[in-house]
Order: sequence, then structure tokens, then C-alpha cells
Amino acid sequence: MNVHETKPQSAGETADAGLRARIGELRSGLEVGLIGASELIERLLIGLLTGGHVLIEGAPGLAKTRAVKRLSDGLDATFARIQCTPDLMPADLTGTTVWRPDQGRFEFLSGPIFHSLVLVDEINRAPPKVQSALLEAMAERQVTAGSNTYPLPDPFMVVATQNPIEHEGTFPLPEAQLDRFLLHVVVGLPDAASERRILDLVERETAGHEDAMPLRLSAEEVRRARRDVANVHLAPALKDYIVRIVTATRDADAAPEVRRAIEYPVSPRGTLSLAAASKARAYLQGRDYATPDDVANLAADTLAHRLVLTWRAAADGRTARDLVRPLLDAVRPV
Ligand SMILES: Nc1ncnc2c1ncn2[C@@H]1O[C@H](COP(=O)(O)OP(=O)(O)O)[C@@H](O)[C@H]1O
Ligand SMILES: [Mg+2]
Repeated sequence: MNVHETKPQSAGETADAGLRARIGELRSGLEVGLIGASELIERLLIGLLTGGHVLIEGAPGLAKTRAVKRLSDGLDATFARIQCTPDLMPADLTGTTVWRPDQGRFEFLSGPIFHSLVLVDEINRAPPKVQSALLEAMAERQVTAGSNTYPLPDPFMVVATQNPIEHEGTFPLPEAQLDRFLLHVVVGLPDAASERRILDLVERETAGHEDAMPLRLSAEEVRRARRDVANVHLAPALKDYIVRIVTATRDADAAPEVRRAIEYPVSPRGTLSLAAASKARAYLQGRDYATPDDVANLAADTLAHRLVLTWRAAADGRTARDLVRPLLDAVRPV
């Protein structure tokens, strides 16, 4: 089978068209309030539709916080924002157990992580103990306090923001923890035309004309859409393409130049993330099957943060993200 012929022979379970349309409206609503940010918006929706967490990286003032707040306006789900500082403690996030003398028992007071959408702002300003408590909760979708375990809500999605690593007074996230994010999205500066539209938009808002989100998607709708996304067809040849991309970070034969720059390659979690994200992108584009373009489009955001470069490659000023382009050039869809 040719990888380009990815359409399933017989249409299996077809996705709910009404629900897909509502997600389209959610997307349009996000576009109205976030100028020139369609890629970021798509990535946030991919996270939402796969149950994955998203890390957004970019300089201050690029609407990272605004994007997540606007997403929360479009969801009928609980939302919390955690502003990270160097003195934050794990319990500030997860919650604390207090003694209730009147009732003669301990009570767990849940922290802000117990929400469906959690914005962890400036995650790299939080100390390592907080980062590891957060990332553990993200992976296990539960919090353990003392001898009790408390499940997090469903859906549960963390969107963390960080300033570029060179900023002072920050604790860079260890690679092993970065792996818990489905996607790592890097946002850049807007062009002049977008900048001008941002100015007009914020001016209108300041004057009291805010474009509200057109709808609020319920938690049940999110769960249903996730099932539809899981049913998006991934052709066997497309699965092989994903695996070849990932294994090229491990074996020297496919892309020797790229392999030489890598100290630690991508784990199976990267393979699963690329597959899941590709299905969600297909769904968002109205397709019931993923294509090589979905995979190539998402390779950098799903894989680069899972790669560790050799010290030599890093000293030469290369980044993991720089390796994805040559990787995709070397590993072609069949
Ligand atoms: N692309 C954009 N679309 C809409 N508003 C933007 C955009 N970029 C920046 N802004 C405006 O700039 C300000 C900074 O946004 P904010 O979300 O606080 O940035 P960050 O969290 O990235 O530091 C806000 O007033 C926001 O409205
Ligand atoms: Mg911010």
C-alpha cells in the first residue's frame, strides 16, 4: 500500500459532524481574539483533543497567557491559573492535608491542579520540586497526599508557558520531564500587519468591545471528540513512516548526520505522541484519516523536546529543533 493512499477502504465509525462543527466554531472564536496565532491555536486544540499537555515557549508579551485564558472561555470546564515563582511549594499546587479538631479527622484541601484546564504560567520560574510534583500529576492524572490518592478531573489538561531558557532566574525543565508534554510549541514575534491588528484589537477591548467566545464546549463534548479523534484512521504505511522517523534518531543508517548530533534519542512516548497528534490534526481539518503531511507538520513539536543533543552539537549552537528538518528530508514517506 502506498502511504499517500491513506483513505480507509470502508469508512468505519464516522465522526459526529455536529460536534466537529462546534469544535470549528471554538477554533474560529480563538482566532478572533488571537491575531496571527493559528498554529498555536491548532496545537492547543490538538492537546485538548488527545488529552495531551502543551508547553508554549516564547518571549514575554506574545499572548501565551491570553491564548490559554481564551481557550478556557470556550470551555465549560473549571480553569485555574498558577503563576510560578521561585518560592512556590509543591503543596501550593497539589493541596494540603489539614487537621479538623471539631471532626476529629484530617481533611484534604485540594490545590489548583484539581481543575480541567490548568495554566501553569512561567513554569521555568518554579523550583525543581514543584516542577516534579506537577509533572508527576500530569503523567499519572492523580495526586497522592499521605496515604490517599485523589484523581484529577477528566478532561485534565495542563498548558505551561515558559520564557526562553537564557532568561535569568529560571530553572530549566529537565529533559525527562519535558517528555510529559505532548507538544512543545515555540511562538515567535508577529509581523508588522499582525502587530497592527493586535493594536486595533486591544484598543477595541480597552474601549469595552470584547469579542466573547461564541460557545462553551462541555466536558462531555470534549470526551466524545476525543473518542472520534482516536478513531481517525492511521494507515499501516503511515505508522511505519512515524516509526522510521523516530528510529532514525536511534540508528545511524537512515540519517547519519542527524544521529551523530544526538546523545539521547526519542522514546516510544514520542512515537505515540506523533501518532495521536497527527490524528487530531486530521480531525481538525475535517478528515477521518491522517496523512504524511500531518506527521511531517507535527514532527518538530512532538519530537524535538524529547531529544538530547551531544555536548558537541550543543556547543556548535545547534538545537534539537534544527535536526527535525534534515531528519524529515532523510526519512521520506513511501
Ligand atoms: N497575537 C496576539 N493577539 C492578540 N493580542 C496579543 C497578541 N500578542 C500580544 N497581544 C497582547 O499583548 C499583551 C501580552 O499578552 P500576554 O498573554 O500577557 O503575553 P505573554 O503571556 O506571552 O507574556 C496582551 O495585552 C495581549 O492582548
Ligand atoms: Mg504570560
